[in-house]
Amino acid sequence: MTANLQPLPPTIAWRGGPDGHLELLDQTQLPHRYHVLELGDLEGVIDAIRRLSVRGAPAIGVAAAYGMVLGVRRAAPMANALVETARLVGAKLTAARPTAVNLAWAVDRMVQAAIARPALPDLLREAQAIHAEDEASCLRMGEFGCDLIGAGDTVLTHCNTGRLATAGDGTALAVLFAAWRKGTRFSVLADETRPLLQGARLTALELAAAGIPVEVIADGAAAGLIARRQVSLAIVGADRIATNGDFANKVGTYAVALACAAHGVPFYVAAPASTFDPQLDDGRHIPIEERDATEITAFAGKPVVAAGIGARNPAFDVTPAGLVKAFVTDHGLLRPPFGPAIKQMLRSGR
Ligand code: MRU
Repeated sequence: MTANLQPLPPTIAWRGGPDGHLELLDQTQLPHRYHVLELGDLEGVIDAIRRLSVRGAPAIGVAAAYGMVLGVRRAAPMANALVETARLVGAKLTAARPTAVNLAWAVDRMVQAAIARPALPDLLREAQAIHAEDEASCLRMGEFGCDLIGAGDTVLTHCNTGRLATAGDGTALAVLFAAWRKGTRFSVLADETRPLLQGARLTALELAAAGIPVEVIADGAAAGLIARRQVSLAIVGADRIATNGDFANKVGTYAVALACAAHGVPFYVAAPASTFDPQLDDGRHIPIEERDATEITAFAGKPVVAAGIGARNPAFDVTPAGLVKAFVTDHGLLRPPFGPAIKQMLRSGR
């Protein structure tokens, strides 16, 4: 297949006013087909989040904010019932995917907005503010992180952390896009990211479309390439970061971090403040989503495991803070010791 490098439609867009609808680029069909879902109800948004039509921690948060508008709108409550409805709708959205804290963060912000101004146009304005802030925070991560990338570097990344994972340029990929715009020339190794292939299907597409040299590798090839000094640095995103710096990201991230530590290769994490969870002291209690075993036992719709054999499918793993050289956030770079740096950042607002 020749890569489809037509410009991608927006990952997330709201069309119209409070009676409008949500558009999501259906990422399950990429890179083959650019299909935009038009969603006018809460169930459609929850289904899109569960099926990974929209995915990536910040993008899930923005989609959920618009899902709140759709859910509250259908209930068409009187002002005094709107807050209760917002809470119920928010609980349904939050249950759609448990690991990325941006989802609960966006829902909570929408509930607080409903308490302060219980009217649908105000809720839509809040969702649009969350959307715009995410775009701006991606640019800031790019600016703060771009000097970590040097000329001639080979950068390893895992999963997809770009325009398809956020409402803007991305998290880890925003750093790469910003470095490239600045004129730094480097190349990227994208882990394919089994089982759903976000690296192969999405990251490679986004980087190639931006003109950045990229090659896809099997996840299991990463450690060997790191050991053979064929990786200058690794940079990944995060779905939830505890206040000590332990973080959850796509399954396979921990193995990359361990290999980097074993061979003295810098390992960076890029994430906005909304991905930090002020309630968690460390990574032990981060909820890890277990997805359907068929994502492992079948490939491209065909069984690859003999009938009757089961599978485990944790979608995320937790990497200890000690393996991270720095966090690139929308508030700046955080370096060890992470505890005080994270707490100070969270005091200045999420
Ligand atoms: O299951 P996904 O595709 O939603 O997982 C996404 C990731 O793990 C990303 O690395 C993470 O959300 C950071 S993206 C900006």
